[in-house]
Amino acid sequence: MTAGVKIEKLCKSYQVAEKNLKVLDNLTAEFQEESITVILGRSGCGKTTLLRILGGLESYDSGTLDIPDHGKIGMVFQEPRLMPWLTVWKNIGFGLPKRRISEPDIQALIHTVGLQGFEKARPMQLSGGMQQRVSLARALAYNPELILMDEPFAALDYFTRTVMQEELIRIYSLQKKSIVFVTHSIDEALLIGQKILVLKQGSVEQEISLSGYAYPRDILSSDLIEIKKNIITTL
Ligand SMILES: Nc1ncnc2c1ncn2[C@@H]1O[C@H](COP(=O)(O)OP(=O)(O)O)[C@@H](O)[C@H]1O
Ligand SMILES: [Mg+2]
Repeated sequence: MTAGVKIEKLCKSYQVAEKNLKVLDNLTAEFQEESITVILGRSGCGKTTLLRILGGLESYDSGTLDIPDHGKIGMVFQEPRLMPWLTVWKNIGFGLPKRRISEPDIQALIHTVGLQGFEKARPMQLSGGMQQRVSLARALAYNPELILMDEPFAALDYFTRTVMQEELIRIYSLQKKSIVFVTHSIDEALLIGQKILVLKQGSVEQEISLSGYAYPRDILSSDLIEIKKNIITTL
């Protein structure tokens, strides 16, 4: 079972030095199940705030959210957030009772994210890309209905990032999870999104469907370049 998400008129403000900072302003959006939805926007436009609200890590002021219960949501952050003293194997199963995840399950996840042979390595011994693979495996270990990813590849170099984008699409093709992926990179959004929601001033300014574009995509194709120009105008 996977799940869609429905957000209606979501509002969120922060109090900063006695000033009211409106971050999300009547945001309405829908994310289809078994689909990759990308939230694209400039730095500071409220992407992380939206994702944290969806993940139950942040409160909101008004509006409605229709999401799976929080036990069924997995999160992957920009930095890997692993336990440095635990091996890859133990990090993946961390916090999960044995009845929820078996040894063959963990082995299968290690295979899914391509970390065979590194089961006993510790985070320090891995590259940034490999650490993010562990984070992704950890999120998948909970068998979530929905995976929220906040700029998970932003800190990686171009080549590693490209590999990880391909990996995400491969894993998605295997498992067909519902994924909400936040990025400020238009190219990344075009490569992986089935739907792109362009966020501006706290609400969805533009919605682009890319479900007709099969993976792997060529972002230098004339169609996608046209869409990119269009997004730049909006942003
Ligand atoms: N806990 C907080 N307290 C006060 N202001 C915050 C907090 N978190 C984020 N903000 C502000 O809210 C705005 C949106 O932040 P954020 O959601 O992190 O944007 P993005 O992820 O798109 O870069 C920014 O102006 C940021 O400074
Ligand atoms: Mg952010």
